[in-house]
Amino acid sequence: EIISGTEIAKQTRARLAEEVKELKEKGVHPGLVIILVGDSPASLSYIKGKQKASEEIGVHFKLERFPESMTEEELLKVIGSYNENPVFHGILVQLPLPAQISETAVIEKISPEKDVDGFHPVNLGRMLTGQKAFLSCTPAGILEMLRIKGIDPSGKHAVVVGRSNIVGKPAGQLLLRENATVTYCHSKTGNLSEITKQADILIAAAGKENLITGKDIKPGAVVIDVGMNRNSQGKLCGDVAFDEAMEVASFLTPVPGGVGPMTITMLAQNTVEAARNTLL
Ligand code: GUN
Repeated sequence: EIISGTEIAKQTRARLAEEVKELKEKGVHPGLVIILVGDSPASLSYIKGKQKASEEIGVHFKLERFPESMTEEELLKVIGSYNENPVFHGILVQLPLPAQISETAVIEKISPEKDVDGFHPVNLGRMLTGQKAFLSCTPAGILEMLRIKGIDPSGKHAVVVGRSNIVGKPAGQLLLRENATVTYCHSKTGNLSEITKQADILIAAAGKENLITGKDIKPGAVVIDVGMNRNSQGKLCGDVAFDEAMEVASFLTPVPGGVGPMTITMLAQNTVEAARNTLL
């Protein structure tokens, strides 16, 4: 079965729209500000998707743009002022940033209570220790897709290929929290295929076209493709050879239309949550 992230995202956004309506009746209008330094077309296209999802569910959205030449000090000051601004419950600084600005410094400057990306070390630590936290959007979207499809990770062997701070590492931790047995693989893993073939749930998040082919997948496995690659024809494709995987897997997410729409929807969900938290 192909898991349609597009379809699940649509259902989730309908629910979020209701939640926003209820919050507004209580006098809270959820707001999200995205800060973009420079004018990368890829970043602008990601932001457009985030804006569309926000506005669709009734979240107040603002894009704040600065020139590529902005200094780190200037950006930290802008973040500081949004930390204090009650109109915006979520702050997202679009990555990557120009070389003169430290991503670590920027992420740490965002108030953990407004860190709807879930990148702040406080949120990562809270997630790791099982406390309430903003979860990184892609891993949260993966878990939500599994939940809606009735796939319970408990007792299963989950293999995560890729160890980025924003996808691979937190995805493995969330699966662990759901009682999966988790193995991490990465670019230095020698016997990748031997390990991926043991996966009941396989998360491909390495950013490499055709890394996972049919022979790397256990029959009946659930395969989640997080890759966002451009192939030689410039077409968007994942890390999994889709047609081959279809022959072997029980569930498979496509690219595009799989994890991507869920990521954006989880950002909207985190923003609604941040707004709701101001009522506590
Ligand atoms: N750049 C690419 N993906 C993301 C994301 O999820 N959040 C931020 N802040 N920047 C990104």
